[in-house]
This record gives sequence, C-alpha cells and structure tokens, in this order.
Amino acid sequence: MTDILTHVEAGVMTITLNRLDRKNSITAAMYGAMADALATAEADASIRVAVFQGHETIFSAGNDIGDFLNKPPQGMESPVFRFLRGIATFTKPLLAAVCGPAVGVGTTMLFHCDLVYAGDNAAFSMPFVNLGLCPEAASSLLVPQMLGYHRAAEALLLGEPFMAEAALEVGLVNRVVPPTEANNVAQGIARKLAAKPLSSLIETKRLMKKGQTQLVMQQMADEGQSFGRMLGEPAAKEAFGAFMEKRKPDFSKV
Ligand code: COA
Repeated sequence: MTDILTHVEAGVMTITLNRLDRKNSITAAMYGAMADALATAEADASIRVAVFQGHETIFSAGNDIGDFLNKPPQGMESPVFRFLRGIATFTKPLLAAVCGPAVGVGTTMLFHCDLVYAGDNAAFSMPFVNLGLCPEAASSLLVPQMLGYHRAAEALLLGEPFMAEAALEVGLVNRVVPPTEANNVAQGIARKLAAKPLSSLIETKRLMKKGQTQLVMQQMADEGQSFGRMLGEPAAKEAFGAFMEKRKPDFSKV
C-alpha cells in the first residue's frame, strides 16, 4: 500500500495520503489502511499522537468516485466505517495538516481531529447534495454545532468550497500558514503534545468529548443508512455518470 504511507517518529504517527495522480481520492483499501494505522496507534503505548497530512497542493478529493460506483460500502464493518469509527473514537490527540482542496470526507474527517493546521490554499467543501448524497462522518451533527445552523446549511446544502481564512474564523482550523509550512507546523505541535503525559492528554480529550461520542456514533449510523440507499438512487447515478463523462449533471428529472 503506497497510497497511504505511515511513519512513526518521536511518539508521532504520521499518516500521509499519497495518491496524487487521483488527487488523493480515497479507495476502500486506503480507508482500510488508515483504519489499521489508527488501531496500531491506539494500541501502541509508544505512539502518543497521530497526524494526517496530504500534499501541499491537495489534501484529498474525497471518496474515490469509481469505488462509489463499483464497490459501494457494505455495512458498518466496511473499511470506510472502520475508518470513521477510528477517527471518532481515537483516544489520543489527532491532528491534520491540510493544503489545497479537502473535498467530502477530506473535510468531514477534520471535525474529528483535535487540531487542524491549514495552508492558505486550503479549500474545504462538502458537496454531498451535488452528488445526490447526504452528509457522512456525523457531519450533519458536527457541522451545525461548529458553524451554527445557517452557515452549516450553506456549507452542506450548497456544497461550495470555503477557504482557509473562513475555516479559521469558524474554528475548524487552528492556524493558517503558507502551504510549504503546514506539515512542519503540524509536526512541531504533534511533537510538543507527544512530550506531555499521555494519561493527561487522553483524560482531557475524554472529558471534552464525553457525552458527544454516543451521539456521533448514532448520527454516523443514521447517515450511513441513508447514504448507502442514496448511492443506488437516480440522483447519485446521474452525478457520478456526469463526473466520469466530464459533463454537468442534469438533476431536472430526479
Ligand atoms: N474520485 C476518482 N477520481 C478522481 C476524484 C475522485 N474523487 N477526484 C479527482 N479524480 C481524478 C480525475 O477524474 C482526474 O482523472 P483523469 O486525469 O483521468 O481525468 C484526476 O483525478 C485529476 O483530477 P482533476 O479534476 O483534473 O484535478 P483538478 O486539480 O482540476 O481538481 C478537484 C481537483 C479535487 C477539485 C477535482 O478533482 C474534484 O472536484 N474532484 C471530485 C471531488 C468529489 O466530488 N469527491 C467526492 C466527494 S464525496
């Protein structure tokens, strides 16, 4: 698996999306590799922090659209749900460095990270409606919580990108830096955290998230049911067909 690279150094596991020719879009195999990496990081006491990063030109184009068409996720044990559960229940600090487009799950996964550092070229979008789908990763719960209802409705119903500065303003990112520095900034913070007492980090995160995790898991399950059904419906078929044929979708009949 070279599409996902993992590296452990100084108590920090770095998980790199490395499928640049497909804009770091994420296949089932990549979700599986990231879920396995998170499980390793969770179980290994010498790993204290995990960091997601992409490339300075792109974080991720979201789910691989070919996979959506050919191998839609089947149930809660599918790689994508293992990954989503992994980020939602990860007990140690979880960071992300994001540059360029972060589409779909490339954005929704960030709501499960504790700290996010963005390049000033970062563009966040959740275009589920434009694909005939609905939100995932508990984003229908977490986006309104963070952005407030009306800004969430704008992000989730219109699905248009918002840039790093807007993400900073609503609290989705902690700091905006030049794209060439984002990964290094996240690494520096990760190492700072890795030097702190792990038990205190874990307990502090648990206390901050207490009460929320069950809601998040329930929302993910609800979303997953709708998402799975909608993948097979005419709107999504038209959206994916249009993407593959490089044309504008026509939703006038769906
Ligand atoms: N799944 C599968 N392939 C994808 C992909 C995805 N999510 N995103 C991009 N690719 C492919 C493109 O089809 C293209 O393939 P080609 O070289 O065979 O034509 C290649 O990656 C390069 O993408 P391109 O669109 O030319 O790059 P760009 O820099 O102009 O735009 C994005 C980058 C991310 C803005 C754009 O690719 C995009 O919008 N992708 C779709 C995002 C999406 O809807 N994801 C699903 C979210 S649920």
